[in-house]
Amino acid sequence: MKRQTWLLTGGAGYIGAHVADAMSRAGRDVVVVDDLSTGRPERVPGDVELVACSVLDTTALAEVMTRRRIAGVIHLAAKKAVDESVDRPLHYYHQNVHGTASVLQAMSMAGVRRMLFSSSAAVYGVPPGGPVTESTPTAPINPYGATKLICEWLVRDAAPALGLSWISLRYFNVCGAGTPSLGDPGVTNLLQLTLQALAQGVSPKVFGQDHYTADGTCVRDYIHVSDLADAHLAAADHLERQDARTSYNVGCGRGSSVLEVLSAAERITGIRVPYEVTAARPVDPANVVADPARIHQDLDWEAKHDLDSMVRSAWEAWQYSHTPYQHHSALTGP
Ligand SMILES: NC(=O)c1ccc[n+]([C@@H]2O[C@H](COP(=O)([O-])OP(=O)(O)OC[C@H]3O[C@@H](n4cnc5c(N)ncnc54)[C@H](O)[C@@H]3O)[C@@H](O)[C@H]2O)c1
Repeated sequence: MKRQTWLLTGGAGYIGAHVADAMSRAGRDVVVVDDLSTGRPERVPGDVELVACSVLDTTALAEVMTRRRIAGVIHLAAKKAVDESVDRPLHYYHQNVHGTASVLQAMSMAGVRRMLFSSSAAVYGVPPGGPVTESTPTAPINPYGATKLICEWLVRDAAPALGLSWISLRYFNVCGAGTPSLGDPGVTNLLQLTLQALAQGVSPKVFGQDHYTADGTCVRDYIHVSDLADAHLAAADHLERQDARTSYNVGCGRGSSVLEVLSAAERITGIRVPYEVTAARPVDPANVVADPARIHQDLDWEAKHDLDSMVRSAWEAWQYSHTPYQHHSALTGP
């Protein structure tokens, strides 16, 4: 028997499609709302209803929530490119902050009382040394990170009046693919940039080798998108069982340097192109690694995939989406 129905905004996107798939496979009934600005309809599982509209359309959202008797919302829909957020701050505030206010308004109209919000390690900005806990001060350094923090505040501040139970998941560096057809279509994070460079025979760029880390390059906490999807399942389960009003870091708790990612990419792709070291960017913190102890303790969740598994699955997805024959044959079936 199907369990409660959850609405996923942004469910046709990179992470959302993995969450939709995980929820669906776990027997949850799921509805996706997505404006398809970066998402693709073919990413949404076949048995899941896709409503193509913006989260800014409060009336349409409330109608779906009422019609499908939604038990909770996983709000992933947002703009996420840091550089673009610097160039187009008003657009980012409109889409992310107004978008979240609209989702909350629709939840209030439809009487939906559970909210799982997609936040980001970007809320911490340049954290002081050591693992980042949920009580590390938040101090975003770009409009994207600021919108994520403001949305967390919006959810927190709306909760008492709307009777909401909520969890914000602060994702660290998401990569990999659960299946080759669901790879990250964007080329903005280190792994995707590296795979692109190697595939094109171009030198991957390393921004600075004089950071205060073991090999001098920046260290980040990479998390496999399938582990992240499982964290959403655990959080949705938790919200169905009991009230919550909290944020969790979602990371592995292990850092990998730029050179470690490059070396894994070379080993797994079998392509070797010497990297090029350029000047460090002042906006890049040296070391951002999660302390995921709280989510482990409260939700019994921990990451299972290692860096090699992330790189291997991302490379398979890269080849899938850049090889016309494979793409075509996989889509049409045997
Ligand atoms: N990818 C990462 O490393 C990362 C890290 C931290 C947080 N996040 C957050 O995770 C969420 C999902 O990111 P992603 O990597 O899957 O990005 P994505 O661009 O692949 O997915 C976003 C989805 O939201 C949809 N969307 C955007 N604006 C919308 C709107 N106004 N109305 C309806 N749909 C809209 C897009 O079409 C897309 O399907 C975002 O909230 C992002 O901020 C991502």
